[in-house]
Amino acid sequence: MQTGEKSLLRFVTTGSVDDGKSTLIGRLLYETRSIYDDQYAAIEKTSRKKGFKEVELAYLLDGLAAEREQGITIDVAYRYFETAKRKFIITDSPGHVQYTKNMVTGASKADCAVILIDARNGVLTQSKRHGFLVSLLQIPHLIVAVNKMDLVDYAQDIFSRIVEEYENFSQKLDIHDIVFIPVSALKGDNIITKSKKMPWYDGTTFLHCLENLNISADRNLVDFRFPVQYVVRTDTNFRGFAGKIVSGTISPSEEVVALPSGKITSIKSITSYDGELTEAFAPQSVVLTLNDEIDVSRGDMIVRKKNLPLIENSLVAIICWMDEEPMTAGASYIMKHTTRSVRASIKNIVYKIDVNTLHRQQVDMFSLNDIGRVEITLAAPVFFDPYKINHATGRFILIDPQTNKTVAAGMIRDAARHVEDYVPSEPDEGIKHKKSPHTIWRDFNIGLRDREKQNTHKACVLWFTGFSGAGKSTIAMALERRLFDRGCRTALLDGDIIRHGLCSDLAFSPTDRKENIRRAGETAKLFFEHGHIVFCTFISPFKEDRDFVRNLFPSGRFVEIYVQCRIDECKKRDPNGLYKKALSGSIKDFTGINSPYETPDNPEMILDTQSMTPEKCVDLIEDFLISKTVIPR
Ligand code: ADX
Repeated sequence: MQTGEKSLLRFVTTGSVDDGKSTLIGRLLYETRSIYDDQYAAIEKTSRKKGFKEVELAYLLDGLAAEREQGITIDVAYRYFETAKRKFIITDSPGHVQYTKNMVTGASKADCAVILIDARNGVLTQSKRHGFLVSLLQIPHLIVAVNKMDLVDYAQDIFSRIVEEYENFSQKLDIHDIVFIPVSALKGDNIITKSKKMPWYDGTTFLHCLENLNISADRNLVDFRFPVQYVVRTDTNFRGFAGKIVSGTISPSEEVVALPSGKITSIKSITSYDGELTEAFAPQSVVLTLNDEIDVSRGDMIVRKKNLPLIENSLVAIICWMDEEPMTAGASYIMKHTTRSVRASIKNIVYKIDVNTLHRQQVDMFSLNDIGRVEITLAAPVFFDPYKINHATGRFILIDPQTNKTVAAGMIRDAARHVEDYVPSEPDEGIKHKKSPHTIWRDFNIGLRDREKQNTHKACVLWFTGFSGAGKSTIAMALERRLFDRGCRTALLDGDIIRHGLCSDLAFSPTDRKENIRRAGETAKLFFEHGHIVFCTFISPFKEDRDFVRNLFPSGRFVEIYVQCRIDECKKRDPNGLYKKALSGSIKDFTGINSPYETPDNPEMILDTQSMTPEKCVDLIEDFLISKTVIPR
């Protein structure tokens, strides 16, 4: 972007077909004089023919039949318009079935996303999914256009309710700038000019907002990265390297390193269409010449000597699966990363993110539109930065070598570390962790990895769930003693004990139990981070609460153990006489009597204490921990 030149804003529009996305785009193109008169005349005619009072601007885009009838052809994916202030490229992400795919491919370069919400329908699951993707892709700005205000009588309370609901949701996400605008794309309210129908709205119009978003601050102009696209040889004296500066700036005579060779040299000259430059910056395409003859070829990267990217051949990334054929762990692909292509295989699926609830799920495969975290191993190293720091060097696509289809798009989180290297509580892209206001996360003084090196075992959480009297505490206590005697660092958190201190303010309503389990889970996490094998014995009757705790830990380190025993047997055992009291009506909300217990769907272990002795159960868990290499044989 040169001074004096208009800036370019790329934005992506999302919404379901009926939200009025096409009308909105049509209106922008029409009002900014970006369509031809004959195109306008054609849609006017079609609208009249169909009996519409207004000119259906949507026909510009999605009236496929109209296009065929009238011979209008408009690029379906990208549209361009400009105003006195700025140039715009709209990436439309059409379709609803493959919205995730479209959004991910269309939006990864966007400066801004526009999510349309139909004022009549309010916030839908899809509006939330799109918000999640905006956050995941780290699109710097989000405009939520509440459309069809004309159909709700321009009512302020309807707009306010939508804003409130969406803000509640978006607070959980990593979105930095969000603006809500009430509009009617059909009538033109608050699109280009301020609507007289909504005097209660004191914000800007849609176009004004787009024209004034500050986007230069979003670009990475610090880390110079130049992936070499091709080598230019004009005659024997000239050897240059052509490509695009994807981030950072560079000037002649600066010292640089060529990767992967590691050879050091300096910049001799920088040339673009405009001739020789004294400085170049992202996203300019240039030809660089170097002061030394070093071997550089396509797929290599030129960077500043004192500012290197990561160079690794195994990565952790969030990927979006885009193929009809599901992905399974172990499968082999080609990774295209900047100008480099490398053979890649999915080593491990860490988890899938449920886009609606933002919860993590353990799965064995990804299907179309699934998003989640994987570990990838490469046949040769790539030079990258985490996506959060540098979008251009942090993203990639995966290609199926058999079909040549793009099967996934990904964002690199970091170099793959072994589970031992797991970094606690660092938020994943897209999901913000809850925290007290104005507090800043600081890593633990001594990391888990160092602690585990000193211990003879790994850290893990054994979560015992089941009815009161099922045998949770008995088994946990015996196993803790056994592991303690073997020299393990252990901790035991028991419901009855925790409820005498940390949770003494809580009773047994579902809300109180939820909070009890949350506190227990967070406490277990602290012990876990300090290298312990943590035994947790809580009835924890609700699946959602148990899953919350599971999601606090890296996969493989949370072991849910369902201690199974029929309620009538528990009643018979009644170690503390509580069943008797509950049955006589003197305890309310007693699990199994007048409060529910949700049986675990997929626990790591089920122990039936009616058919097995506590010793047998302890042996089984010990064997399980050995098989998972948590403790040595
Ligand atoms: S949880 O549901 O929130 O997980 P937790 O395991 O902490 O419960 O506490 C259960 C213990 O509290 C039981 O072992 C029992 O001794 C005692 N208790 C007292 N009232 C109740 C009740 N209404 N339901 C279940 N347990 C109760």
